Amino acid sequence: MAPNVSCFLLAVLISASCKVITSSDQMCIEKEANKTYNCENLGLSEIPDALPNTTEILEFSFNFLPTIQNRTFRRLINLTFLDLTRCQINWIHEDTFESHHQLGILVLTGNPLIFMAETSLNGPKSLKHLFLIQTGISSLEFIPVHNLVNLESLYLGSNHISSMKLPKDFPTRNLKVLDFQNNAIHYLSREDMNPLKQATNLSLNFNGNDIKGIEPGAFSSTVFQSLNFGGTFNLSVIFNGLWNSTTRSLWLGTFEDIDDQDLSSAMLEGLCEMSVESINLQKHHFSDFSSTTFRCFTRVQALDLTATHLEGLPSGIEGMNLLKKLVLNVNNFDQLCQINAANFPSLTHLYIKGNMKKLQLGAGCLEKLENLQKLDLSHNNIQTPDCCNLQLKNLQHLQILNLSYNELLGLQSQAFKECPRLELLDLAFTNLHVNTPQSPFQNLQLLRVLNLSHCLLDTSNQHLLAGLPDLWHLNLQGNSFQDGTIPKTNLFQTVGSLEILILSSCGLLSIDQQAFHSLGKMSHVDLSHNSLTSNSISALGHLKGLYLNLAANSIRIILPHLLPILSQQSTINLSHNPLECTCSNIHFLTWYKENLQKLEGLEETVCANPPALRGVKLSDVKLSCGITALGIFFLIVFSFLITILLIFAAKYLLRYKYQHI
Ligand SMILES: *[C@@H]1O[C@H](CO)[C@@H](O)[C@H](O)[C@H]1NC(C)=O
Ligand SMILES: *[C@@H]1O[C@H](CO)[C@@H](O)[C@H](O)[C@H]1NC(C)=O
Ligand SMILES: *[C@@H]1O[C@H](CO)[C@@H](O)[C@H](O)[C@H]1NC(C)=O
Ligand SMILES: *[C@@H]1O[C@H](CO)[C@@H](O)[C@H](O)[C@H]1NC(C)=O
Ligand SMILES: *[C@@H]1O[C@H](CO)[C@@H](O)[C@H](O)[C@H]1NC(C)=O
Ligand SMILES: *[C@@H]1O[C@H](CO)[C@@H](O)[C@H](O)[C@H]1NC(C)=O
Ligand SMILES: *[C@@H]1O[C@H](CO)[C@@H](O)[C@H](O)[C@H]1NC(C)=O
Ligand SMILES: *[C@@H]1O[C@H](CO)[C@@H](O)[C@H](O)[C@H]1NC(C)=O
Ligand SMILES: *[C@@H]1O[C@H](CO)[C@@H](O)[C@H](O)[C@H]1NC(C)=O
Ligand SMILES: *[C@@H]1O[C@H](CO)[C@@H](O)[C@H](O)[C@H]1NC(C)=O
Repeated sequence: MAPNVSCFLLAVLISASCKVITSSDQMCIEKEANKTYNCENLGLSEIPDALPNTTEILEFSFNFLPTIQNRTFRRLINLTFLDLTRCQINWIHEDTFESHHQLGILVLTGNPLIFMAETSLNGPKSLKHLFLIQTGISSLEFIPVHNLVNLESLYLGSNHISSMKLPKDFPTRNLKVLDFQNNAIHYLSREDMNPLKQATNLSLNFNGNDIKGIEPGAFSSTVFQSLNFGGTFNLSVIFNGLWNSTTRSLWLGTFEDIDDQDLSSAMLEGLCEMSVESINLQKHHFSDFSSTTFRCFTRVQALDLTATHLEGLPSGIEGMNLLKKLVLNVNNFDQLCQINAANFPSLTHLYIKGNMKKLQLGAGCLEKLENLQKLDLSHNNIQTPDCCNLQLKNLQHLQILNLSYNELLGLQSQAFKECPRLELLDLAFTNLHVNTPQSPFQNLQLLRVLNLSHCLLDTSNQHLLAGLPDLWHLNLQGNSFQDGTIPKTNLFQTVGSLEILILSSCGLLSIDQQAFHSLGKMSHVDLSHNSLTSNSISALGHLKGLYLNLAANSIRIILPHLLPILSQQSTINLSHNPLECTCSNIHFLTWYKENLQKLEGLEETVCANPPALRGVKLSDVKLSCGITALGIFFLIVFSFLITILLIFAAKYLLRYKYQHI
């Protein structure tokens, strides 16, 4: 008896057309009921009546509000966040935000402001963050900030401001961020800077202003969180101007399109007269580089020399005992020993990534860095047939090692013996040749995270992961398994502490039912982007509460005996599978609807078959697979006819028998 399929689904069609109507009506999107609304880019010229008075967070950018005034937002008195980016606002009238006492963040970026009334910002006394980027402002007097006693950050980037003279009543007490990026401020006087002495922990940004003069003492005896003078043509000006100042972070980098002066050792002498914890000189050229270049860096704790065209650092640099973090990304080293690491004996963090040449690791180049905790050597085209004990000699305290995106590493057994405290090892996208039947990772007692994605590994080596008692997160994405199968005995048997396992894009066709039996602690399994069928689900039978990603596999039908395994997990992603929406899959389809709260990616979990239902969301499918009344009627008639036929046949047979006696 063929199953009687009577599906479909006026409801689906009706709900689909409802959606179209609302979107052509250009409604705001409700993100949180009665509170958060997104009305971006709807061509609105007023606040829609549909927005409730209780709205607190309103994203209203890319609409049309040439003037705003006291009635524009009057209804929404509980606003805390208002984004009016690029609404073509020219005029902001008196008392516009009069009753908006809760307003904390106001974004007016990208509006060609012509006028802001003196009382326009009188209401929002709790305003903390004000964005006036790209508003055509040319003077700070334009902004009626006098009432904003709680102001913490003021963003004024990309305007035409030429003087940072603050108005008398400018509230600076709580100020944390003052951002003047890309304006036309060329001179800073003591008088300009005086009002800022009240602010503690201020971050001041003059990036892209090309400061040409600073009055001596302008920055003295003030403590800044950060100062940014990026893109300044003549850094001598800055070094002279910052005499007697104290700042945690000083950003003096430059940009490709600026043809500025080379840095000379004489210029850097200025650093002796100020106190700086962290300094960034990215993209500068050094005109002379000797062991005395860093004479005034003795108190610096972090130094960033990204893309400074370095081919080496001289030996014999003295006094840099406080330096903890050194960034040497995107330079031109041939060999790691050229950085003369012994100059920086206290380093805990070293970054050398994206070197412009193929980097040779050399032997023991970092052996003096006993305190090193983090080492980033990614994107360096490193090719080393025998790694890594000679290369990483004596890195006793190393916790994080990044060797991702290199060319080829040959690994012997116990290849990281010199770094016994490793907690995170990232080898992603580096071709690994494991030249041993044993584990190259043996004895990394503290290793928690191992990223081996896209390493072209030989996964048939059952001992590959031996000796990692604490391994918690393993990423094997993009490696392949022999015959597309994870067999019963496999490399996972030694890593029982694993909680997160990524096996996406591994070309898997099947997983043995016993393959994961030693993995009892797992909480996150990603098997997406393989070619698994539902049979492989039985390998997860002993696990509960999993986040399970089975997206983009070849799952068509999930038989009833597998459903309890899914039921005991906490979140499941079944999107992008060729799922059957026929009665042969009815048990799964019923289970699916009863467990929607467990499933993610509902929008992308759609039927692939039958053709009539292709693309319909599983949660919208209505199948009825029982026998219909008509079916029952025919069945009764059919059985009745059969019975009659049998009686006649019996009669006939009996008669035939008696006739031939
Ligand atoms: C939203 O407001 C309406 C009308 O005042 C009310 O019925 C509803 O319960 C509110 N919803 C929430 C989530 O507060
Ligand atoms: C604004 O918030 C206050 C305090 O939460 C509440 O009492 C009041 O009803 C709200 N007003 C509107 C119009 O939502
Ligand atoms: C709003 O502004 C108009 C014109 O400036 C004024 O007449 C009106 O009284 C103001 N309303 C409130 C509530 O302040
Ligand atoms: C919203 O506020 C306006 C003005 O304050 C008031 O006239 C209106 O009745 C309020 N609407 C609701 C639904 O409370
Ligand atoms: C100073 O500001 C920075 C970020 O702006 C913040 O991380 C830090 O905690 C602040 N320090 C103090 C003492 O307020
Ligand atoms: C820096 O401080 C010293 C000692 O306090 C003082 O003599 C000197 O004038 C100050 N220099 C500047 C430029 O403020
Ligand atoms: C750079 O600034 C310093 C200090 O203001 C000045 O002495 C020097 O001449 C300037 N150099 C150039 C090339 O303008
Ligand atoms: C290692 O470096 C790569 C590339 O620079 C980066 O994407 C990755 O996040 C880093 N790994 C860790 C653990 O930080
Ligand atoms: C490797 O995995 C770790 C842990 O998930 C992650 O932080 C890191 O970014 C990954 N590396 C790359 C290159 O994606
Ligand atoms: C489901 O998994 C796929 C593949 O990993 C991913 O792209 C998608 O974002 C996931 N869905 C959700 C809702 O997280």
